[in-house]
Amino acid sequence: MLSYRHAFHAGNHADVLKHTILVFCLEYMNRKDTPWLYIDTHSGAPSYSLLGSYAAMTGESEAGIARLRAFARDDPPPPAVAAYLRAVEAYGRAWGDEYPGSPSIAAEVLREEDRAVFFELHPTDYAPLERRFEPFRRVRTRMEDGFSGLKSVLPPPSRRALVLIDPPYELKEDYGRVVDSLKSALARFATGVYLVWYPVLDRSEARDLPSALMDLAQGEAYRAELRVRTLEDGERGMAGSGLVVMNPPWKLAEAIDETLPYLARALGNGREAGWNSERVDGRNRNAPPRVQA
Ligand SMILES: C[S@@+](CC[C@H](N)C(=O)[O-])C[C@H]1O[C@@H](n2cnc3c(N)ncnc32)[C@H](O)[C@@H]1O
Repeated sequence: MLSYRHAFHAGNHADVLKHTILVFCLEYMNRKDTPWLYIDTHSGAPSYSLLGSYAAMTGESEAGIARLRAFARDDPPPPAVAAYLRAVEAYGRAWGDEYPGSPSIAAEVLREEDRAVFFELHPTDYAPLERRFEPFRRVRTRMEDGFSGLKSVLPPPSRRALVLIDPPYELKEDYGRVVDSLKSALARFATGVYLVWYPVLDRSEARDLPSALMDLAQGEAYRAELRVRTLEDGERGMAGSGLVVMNPPWKLAEAIDETLPYLARALGNGREAGWNSERVDGRNRNAPPRVQA
């Protein structure tokens, strides 16, 4: 039984980081004429009310998107953050002030000739997802396990795809499954752009995950991590989050390396905040990774 509901967390610091990188990658895909496929293995709902009871219960969006908006009024954001804020504003204007989930952010960028597949297992989030995208021929929604569903849609006919793998990690198996599913996806389609989100938590599976993912790189890979606070020994909760990007778009690393210090200032808890990034080239395994803190 799945209990995770993204409505409690929508617009938090993790969404800000993930969606900033997602917007950059989506816009990059449109730079070429060849059609592409967007795959969201863990879609969630199409959008979330930040004024509703779920958001109010945790206050996470207040410390995320709301805090970023206020910060950006006095401290102009770098281009990648500005593009993310524009996407969120535009969505809010069009859809009654809701915060967009990843499928809606992607759907706004897709062109007529592009396609998307959205997987979501939870019936409560799947129902509005299906309703919202049912009129769009270029989008397919599937109430199936996104880890195993991913294989079934790769490789894409056009040989261009952007894949977001964003599990809730509520089940311990998710840590192993995310590695296995990325591995088999790369075996089927090595040149796709893959974004994998991970939490920064004080548990061994979470600590080991980023390097297990980076070890799968066959070409270039980039990892971006934002910490908004430190955890006391044994404290539960999320100190921050990160993304591993396989085959990162041109200039993503530069763009996000200027984004991370900005987000640490905007969303971090003073000196507890921090960030780091890493680049590896899977074709040249003897070269040391380039790490920036
Ligand atoms: C972190 S949320 C997704 C947030 C969304 N990607 C976004 O950025 O707006 C994870 C979602 O995955 C769903 N889920 C959990 N296990 C799943 C699975 N094995 N396959 C597909 N969806 C799953 C949950 O119901 C939840 O809605």
